[in-house]
Amino acid sequence: MANTFDNVLIRKFKSEDKESVRKISYATSFLDNPHAFLDDEELVADALTLYFTDYEPESCFVAISQENVIGYLIGAKSDACMNRVLFPRIYPYLLMKALKVGMFFRMKSLQCLFHFLASSLRGEFSTPNFSREFSAVLHINIDKNFRGAKIGHKLMEHYLEYLMENKVVGVRASTVSELAKDFFAQLGFKIVFRSRRSYMRYRLGKDVPLYILGRRI
Ligand SMILES: CC(C)(COP(=O)(O)OP(=O)(O)OC[C@H]1O[C@@H](n2cnc3c(N)ncnc32)[C@H](O)[C@@H]1OP(=O)(O)O)[C@@H](O)C(=O)NCCC(=O)NCCS
Repeated sequence: MANTFDNVLIRKFKSEDKESVRKISYATSFLDNPHAFLDDEELVADALTLYFTDYEPESCFVAISQENVIGYLIGAKSDACMNRVLFPRIYPYLLMKALKVGMFFRMKSLQCLFHFLASSLRGEFSTPNFSREFSAVLHINIDKNFRGAKIGHKLMEHYLEYLMENKVVGVRASTVSELAKDFFAQLGFKIVFRSRRSYMRYRLGKDVPLYILGRRI
């Protein structure tokens, strides 16, 4: 039977939630196995959340239990607007920070970067452009102690309603998790692209699937 957690509140993200969101983003990265790949917690959290928490906080939601953030959904209404911040601001910032913390001198980080680069050179990061049909994007993560209790569904309901109010026509999500793919399918998302990525193979011993799922609002 599914877990239930009483009194889980879904509300809009506030700036004081930022540290908790960043912590969950790191803990849930690389299929809940970040330390096997990268120890640079701040850098990983920046890469995963900085645009959303700092440039589009109005599109972000958190799940609260006993005053703690136990999950979040961070979104962007328009990937084109998001890219106008990512390329000139966030990516250069990440590069500078990586240099500053000496990421390129640590074996674990170098190994991870090498495998990302190899995967990218094999074309595994090229995907079709879904900007017109599914312009909104999202990342959703629930603390692993609270999964399977419909908290993800509740966060998604709030986000979908928000997108509808803002007259967004479509939303998409990308995932390398079979379980997450099933979660999105339950919410009416359809697979619009699938492929495989090899960048985690050196640790997991296998490729991971990539699913892009889209839904009209
Ligand atoms: C995927 C995720 C957001 C779903 O949120 P959730 O609150 O656990 O899921 P819900 O309870 O709302 O929905 C349950 C359904 O989600 C799917 N699901 C995905 N991961 C699950 C998990 N770890 N435990 C239980 N159900 C999970 C199942 O299809 C399940 O359906 P079922 O109960 O009929 O088997 C959450 O499990 C999570 O954060 N997982 C790890 C990170 C991740 O994969 N994020 C998505 C990538 S963008």
